[in-house]
Amino acid sequence: MDQSISPLRINSERFRTNLETLAAIGATPDGGVHRPALSEAHLQARRWFLDQARQAGLDARVDGAGNHSAVLRCGPAGGATLLLGSHLDSVPYGGRFDGALGVVAALEVLQVVKEQGLWLKAHLEAVDFTDEEGHFVNFLGSLALSGRLEPEHVRNPRGGRDRFQQALGRAGLSASSLFSAGRDPAAVAGYLELHIEQGARLVEADMQMGVVTGIVGIRSFKIRFIGRADHAGTTPMGRRLDAAQGAGAFTLAARERVMRDFPGCVVNVGNMEFEPGAFNVVPQTVTVALEFRADDDDELDEMEASLLQQASIEAQRFGLGLETAFLDSTPPARMNDTVRDAFAQASKLLGLRHTFLPSGAGHDAQCLAQICPAGMIFVPSVGGFSHSAKEFTEWEDCVNGANALLHAALILAR
Ligand code: GLV
Ligand code: MN
Ligand code: MN
Repeated sequence: MDQSISPLRINSERFRTNLETLAAIGATPDGGVHRPALSEAHLQARRWFLDQARQAGLDARVDGAGNHSAVLRCGPAGGATLLLGSHLDSVPYGGRFDGALGVVAALEVLQVVKEQGLWLKAHLEAVDFTDEEGHFVNFLGSLALSGRLEPEHVRNPRGGRDRFQQALGRAGLSASSLFSAGRDPAAVAGYLELHIEQGARLVEADMQMGVVTGIVGIRSFKIRFIGRADHAGTTPMGRRLDAAQGAGAFTLAARERVMRDFPGCVVNVGNMEFEPGAFNVVPQTVTVALEFRADDDDELDEMEASLLQQASIEAQRFGLGLETAFLDSTPPARMNDTVRDAFAQASKLLGLRHTFLPSGAGHDAQCLAQICPAGMIFVPSVGGFSHSAKEFTEWEDCVNGANALLHAALILAR
């Protein structure tokens, strides 16, 4: 091909070295990473990111919500900033691509633009958002940066209040600093995110890129079934107030309800905490971690009512008390048409086969979409695996994704 018309490309060797170095931080023996938000490994990954930014001659910044950024001042003085980003935290024992790919690609884009000496209509900022995975508060960093963080989001942190306070302290943050991270929407030109698909649709359709059309809404609750602790050997079966029966029956019924009444939606019971939690004690309480997702807010409302009703039916059936606590809600979001077009054009320019698809996974882009034109691009996940160490994306697809991110940014900001 005539090099004079070949589109600009990222430095794929540097990009690969960065991704691999990052994957070694919090690495698990099976090839995944364990970097829950604000854990030591996560904080180490964030330090690594800022070091890379400084070494590349970019400005490093950390806001009150702990969002870590590399900034390239390549736009007009006082002009807005185009954000590119994702997250460096992982789910417990997760994969090495989820979030990390988007942050490393964003950093790479800034480095290429700096090296080329390009001046754009906007400054560029690569952002690593805090707690995208909701270890404590779902999308904590992107909610805060979007000015959408409310006291109710931090009232019942998923990981518990004490652990959240300790983690904030470890990271040099506080409950009040979180609220200082909001940006003036006029200063944000847009938001672009590269991510792995985390499903098998691209591979099955033999596509190299997925331009995201919209992102699912997510709500979560803690549901506590309250029974009575008793001797597990001497208490007859018919006399027990066994919290585990309520929790187990609820989990099965929730699945059936959603499959029957909410086609296309999903529900997950991801954890149960038993108290006192011993082989020989009838469970006094079981606290269920409940999350459900739908494409629109009305459907989320209906699911919430239906699932809470089911919890109450199961509590009554087993003679149990019930407490429910709302944890968080992230609205579904449509991706911006102009950003979608920019990703589609970038994909065409690079000669890649792309399609359009909605996201069933949550992403920081859905928070940013509340204040600026936001969009995402997916690259294929082999086997569709994610949130596990089996997560894998072919190297060539990672590079394609980073090049598409670069060109979408140039199309929007040139
Ligand atoms: C984010 O990874 C999510 O839970 O969808
Ligand atoms: Mn992610
Ligand atoms: Mn994830």
